[in-house]
Amino acid sequence: MDVATTVAEVRACVRNWRQAGLRVALVPTMGNLHAGHLSLLAAARFRADRVITSVFVNPLQFGPAEDFAAYPRTLAEDRVLLEAAHCDLLFAPPVDQIYPDGGAQPTLITVRSLAAVLCGQFRPGHFDGVATVVAKLFNIVAPDVAVFGEKDFQQFIIIRRMTLDLQIPVEIIGAPTVRAPDGLALSSRNRYLSAQERAIAPAIHRALQAAVQRLDAGDRNYLGIESAGWQALAVAGLRPDYFAVRDADDLQPPRTASRELVVLTAARIGKARLIDNLRLPLVRL
Ligand code: PAJ
Repeated sequence: MDVATTVAEVRACVRNWRQAGLRVALVPTMGNLHAGHLSLLAAARFRADRVITSVFVNPLQFGPAEDFAAYPRTLAEDRVLLEAAHCDLLFAPPVDQIYPDGGAQPTLITVRSLAAVLCGQFRPGHFDGVATVVAKLFNIVAPDVAVFGEKDFQQFIIIRRMTLDLQIPVEIIGAPTVRAPDGLALSSRNRYLSAQERAIAPAIHRALQAAVQRLDAGDRNYLGIESAGWQALAVAGLRPDYFAVRDADDLQPPRTASRELVVLTAARIGKARLIDNLRLPLVRL
């Protein structure tokens, strides 16, 4: 596996691959890799001849009171995992490669309507930071395909929309959420949990499952389903930010024409803020 830390290096590498007629995939991450990230690499490998993984803790997507400084940085371990997963190139730039003018980034990408709802209400500016850094990575790497986890469903929808609206020629692939055996979605932020909090956290997946079961049985009392989900989390000892049933295409409230629903939640416990979602197709072929 090659390692690049500068924009010029990664561009030169991709140029060579392109000239050889190879298809290139990008898997953007913030590092501290786990089996969820590695599943994205497997999906990328399936769709391309060369796989690039970026590891960059993006300051632009963290709020002032959030965990940018504390975010786990484990590049040596990440490197070993990526090598074993047959990654071809690790792109691990320092902050000044991505934000050369000392962090001022006057250009921001806002995916209006999608960035303001759900997590956007609780993390102002977060999705602008995500959309902006992902657009930059797309411009730096110029991949044919990029893979994102459906675990961060709002992020996935926003990136898909941004790519479409800006006519960036990259195919966006979503990969299913990888979970621990007890249902908890794998996340780098799970390491903030104490043993006791870790034991409570699977209540998130259970609450989502209960909501999906009601929807699947034909229940369309969305408000009732949302408040039951909220209650279940609170009773388990979590502090929910939201528990919402939405249309999976645009994250708006469900409507008659909705083809697929998604139940999304964000809940806090101790120092951690955990997010998860489950989808339910309505149109069955
Ligand atoms: P990060 O949290 O490191 O996640 C990188 C990618 O891994 C994202 O696409 C995320 O959805 C996916 N992922 C995380 N946990 C997963 C799981 N349990 N199952 C499947 N996929 C999972 O998301 C980011 O970084 C950043 O916002 C980024 C897109 C890199 C922009 O900075």
